[in-house]
Amino acid sequence: MAAQHVFTMYRLSKVHPPDKTVLDNLTLAFYPGAKIGVLGYNGAGKSTLLRIMAGQDEEYRGEAALAPGASVGMLAQEPRLDESKDVRGNVLEGVAETQAAGPVQRARGQLLRGDGRGVRGDPGAHRRGGRVEP
Ligand SMILES: Nc1ncnc2c1ncn2[C@@H]1O[C@H](COP(=O)(O)OP(=O)(O)OP(=O)(O)O)[C@@H](O)[C@H]1O
Ligand SMILES: [Mg+2]
Repeated sequence: MAAQHVFTMYRLSKVHPPDKTVLDNLTLAFYPGAKIGVLGYNGAGKSTLLRIMAGQDEEYRGEAALAPGASVGMLAQEPRLDESKDVRGNVLEGVAETQAAGPVQRARGQLLRGDGRGVRGDPGAHRRGGRVEP
């Protein structure tokens, strides 16, 4: 593993019991800041790969390593929702960390989400660090 990679996978295989091989001898490496897409037909193993990368599945052969100090965020394909909350409540729970981080981070989050509010309505806000309310 080269030191500059933020995540590496070396000869990784995943078999769903009893004998369904989903990932077979996979070797991958990601540079920090790279934007990577995973393409594959339904059932190819994309979510399986991402769950392993997120540390949610540790049942595999081979190696998967996140660089020291790096962290992984994952939005599940079928997220578990809090049924006691409505859609807005669940969304607010999902963005709570970004909201708590302050206005600049919040504006960045809205830019990344492209939700069309706040930053687009006030194009200078993210540069000025201005308040952008949800
Ligand atoms: N817990 C499990 N037990 C057994 N087989 C599983 C399990 N989870 C996934 N599989 C099988 O592993 C294969 C890969 O599933 P995965 O969900 O990773 O595919 P995917 O590429 O994300 O598919 P999609 O495009 O539908 O999201 C599929 O054939 C699926 O049926
Ligand atoms: Mg999937």
